[in-house]
Amino acid sequence: MRLRHLSLRDFRSYSEAEVDLTEGVTTFVGLNGQGKTNLVEAAGYLASLGSHRVSNDAPLVRFGAERAFVRAAVVRDSRETVLELEIVPGRANRARVGRSAATRPRDILGTLRTVLFAPEDLALVKGDPGERRRFLDELLVARQPRWAGARSDYDKILKQRNALLRSAQSVLRKGSRGGTLTPEEAVSRETTLDTLVEWNTHLAAVGASLVYARLRLLRDLAPHVASSYDEVSAGRSEARLTYVSSLPEAVAHRIADGEVPEREELEKAFHQAFEEMRQREIDRGVTLVGPHRDDVTLTLGDLPAKGYASHGESWSFALALRLAAFHLLRNDLKTDPVLVLDDVFAELDAGRRERLAAMVADAEQVLITAAVAEDVPDILSGSTYYVTKGSVSAEEADDAPLTESGTTSGSADATSDNGGADHD
Ligand SMILES: Nc1ncnc2c1ncn2[C@@H]1O[C@H](COP(=O)(O)OP(=O)(O)OP(=O)(O)O)[C@@H](O)[C@H]1O
Ligand SMILES: [Mg+2]
Repeated sequence: MRLRHLSLRDFRSYSEAEVDLTEGVTTFVGLNGQGKTNLVEAAGYLASLGSHRVSNDAPLVRFGAERAFVRAAVVRDSRETVLELEIVPGRANRARVGRSAATRPRDILGTLRTVLFAPEDLALVKGDPGERRRFLDELLVARQPRWAGARSDYDKILKQRNALLRSAQSVLRKGSRGGTLTPEEAVSRETTLDTLVEWNTHLAAVGASLVYARLRLLRDLAPHVASSYDEVSAGRSEARLTYVSSLPEAVAHRIADGEVPEREELEKAFHQAFEEMRQREIDRGVTLVGPHRDDVTLTLGDLPAKGYASHGESWSFALALRLAAFHLLRNDLKTDPVLVLDDVFAELDAGRRERLAAMVADAEQVLITAAVAEDVPDILSGSTYYVTKGSVSAEEADDAPLTESGTTSGSADATSDNGGADHD
């Protein structure tokens, strides 16, 4: 699939931008801070309803504006669909697919698929487990949008269970340490325990589904990660992924060995864990088992990547994860997701640069950002846009001074107007 047109209003540094896009490679070139990443971030947001840079929406709306609009024409199998999203920080966003009435944003998931690699992805290798969990879950949703519902159900159940553990801490503690309870306390203890059993059932059911889905995803993804790393690094070492489960030892071991237990078995393991950990969970007031406590260990050769891999190796591993996601989606969907490479080439040595270019050259559409056009290997020649202070143009701006509002002249097919971008 590909984007034919991207349209922004009050998104990030853009008061307005209209960008036509073609098949193949489009490179956005411009100095630091001009708005290259902002453009591709908008495309990524339409596909995933999340930004790779921020976890809340406020920074996405142009400073001083109330809401942002992102619109895109997406072409798949020569059919075009228009997607529209209104981003209003602090309130529910609104979305629209084609001419239909406004819907929940979640309903547009799946229409546009992107795989976005950005410098922030270094955190997949060097960062906390949460980064790797998010990678898995986002890919799960990109693969099958219905997982967005399960993800949010899980988060809700987890919140409720944690709230229950916290609020009931004192009464449960007293009861479980053999203290004497008043009749009221005894009743309250019973009710709390009953409610806890209910939340256990919900959490085990949704949690087991989520872990099962992640394990299957990982099983399908792993060979692509190994081959992508191999290709980028020209066979320097073997890249492997191991799922680290918070479930009881026996199951966790088998999972670490690459086994994918049945969903029912995982659900039983949750209940066993709740039994075993009850006292600790009550003491700490948080849920200690479940997909929110899991991690994925990344290994290069015999060593963990985190803490051992060089900068270039970590970068290549993060890249391999995204390229693997691209290949997995390509296989699944029978169409290419839009591949976005934000600032990737400057960090790679010449060999890795050329090999990466060769790997992505046949993708249906690739959007690349670069501060220096020469960093992008020649085989990725395609269209080039020049980005200067919130304006996108097919013509390279000559040294003409920027106008008061920061507007540069745009070409017929790619113009923008940032008439209000005077916040800085
Ligand atoms: N909500 C916002 N309102 C106005 N301006 C914003 C907003 N968010 C970001 N910006 C501006 O956008 C600019 C950053 O844009 P962007 O990240 O796209 O740069 P870039 O061209 O990718 O640069 P680099 O080459 O450094 O990666 C910054 O100058 C920042 O001040
Ligand atoms: Mg950038």
